[in-house]
Amino acid sequence: MIDLDEAAIVARLSAIGVASPVSIAALTGSTNDDARAAAIAGAPHGAAFLADAQHKGRGRGGHSWHSPPGENLYLSIVLRPAGIAPRELAPLTLAIGGAVARAIEARLPEGSRASIKWPNDVLVDGRKIAGVLVESALRAGAITAVVAGVGVNVKTLNFPAELTDRATSIALLGARDRDRSSLAAALIAGITRASDRFEAERLAPFLDDLRARDHLLGRPLHALEARGIGAGVRDDGAYVIEVEGGARVPITSGAIEVP
Ligand code: BTN
Repeated sequence: MIDLDEAAIVARLSAIGVASPVSIAALTGSTNDDARAAAIAGAPHGAAFLADAQHKGRGRGGHSWHSPPGENLYLSIVLRPAGIAPRELAPLTLAIGGAVARAIEARLPEGSRASIKWPNDVLVDGRKIAGVLVESALRAGAITAVVAGVGVNVKTLNFPAELTDRATSIALLGARDRDRSSLAAALIAGITRASDRFEAERLAPFLDDLRARDHLLGRPLHALEARGIGAGVRDDGAYVIEVEGGARVPITSGAIEVP
C-alpha cells in the first residue's frame, strides 16, 4: 500500500483547504458498505473510505467490481447534501462522474480526453477507466446521507479476459503519475465540491461539461424503452434517444447499450 497512504492524502487535502477524515483498509468487502455504516454512525460530509482491495466490490445493476490489491483505487465518500429529495438524486451521479473524469484526465498524457457514458461510466478511448456508484441512506422517506463510490483503474496492465477489450487504466494509457494517494485526494476534493455545487444549483452548472464529454452522442443505442441514436443529456439529467421517425425518448434509469 506504499502509494496509498492516509497521512499523504490528508496532507494533500489540507493544503487545498479540505478537512475530510480519511480511513484506509487493507481489505474490505465494499468501501460503499464501510461508508454507509459510518454515515449511519454519524460520519461527516466528506468522510472518505478507501481500501487497497475489496472482496465484494460492486457496480451498478448488481455487477461485481474487479478489486485486486496494490493496483487501483476503491473510494467511497459520505455526502450530506441538504434539501435533496430522493427523486432529485439521480443526476448527482452525472455531476460526480464529471468530477471523476476531470481528475483522471489531469493525469493522462496531453490531449487525452475522458468521456462519460451515461449515467456512470468514465471512458478513455472508448474503454472504461472508472465507474461511479451512488447509494443513499433514507429515514422516513428523506435522505440522511449519500455514499458516492468510485472505482478507478490505476495500475492494472492485465484485466480478466471478459474485461480486456472494454477496460483500460491510467498506466495502460501511459500516464507517468500513478500515485494513488494524490489521485484519491483530487477525487475526494472534486467529488465533495461537486456535491456542494449540486446541492446549491442542481445539474445546471455541470451540463456544458457533461455534454462535451458525452460518449453516446450520435451513436446507435438501445435501452429497454427505446432504440435509436444518442441525442444528448437533457437539462434534468435524463438521456435522450432519438428513435426512427424523430421522436425523442428520455431515459431516466437503467442502462443504455451501445451495440
Ligand atoms: C459501476 O461502474 O458500475 C460502478 C462501479 C463502482 C465501484 C466502486 S469501487 C469503490 C466502491 N465500492 C464498491 O463496492 N463499489 C464502488
